[in-house]
Amino acid sequence: MHKDEEIIICRCEDITLDEIRRAIRQGYTDFEELKRYLRVGMGPCQGRTCTSLIRWELARFLGKSVAEIQPPTKRPPAVNVLIGVIHSGREKP
Ligand code: FES
Repeated sequence: MHKDEEIIICRCEDITLDEIRRAIRQGYTDFEELKRYLRVGMGPCQGRTCTSLIRWELARFLGKSVAEIQPPTKRPPAVNVLIGVIHSGREKP
């Protein structure tokens, strides 16, 4: 049986289940708060791996269903950039 401090939930930011549970007990009870406090969901995968696990943990702690836990805000790139523009080194097409 693994201890909470041995279970990595957010692999990108190296955040354990124990750290998430402690943060929730301290009052960080929505995903956006956890994201700002622990950086969960902000790694290279942008939360693809850890978001559902953290939403389950929040739901369990709050006695809610996972569907009631708001997922984190997704922010797409501000402007599309054509590969040709990057390759040419120009600033605008
Ligand atoms: S596993 Fe959490 S951001 Fe990638």
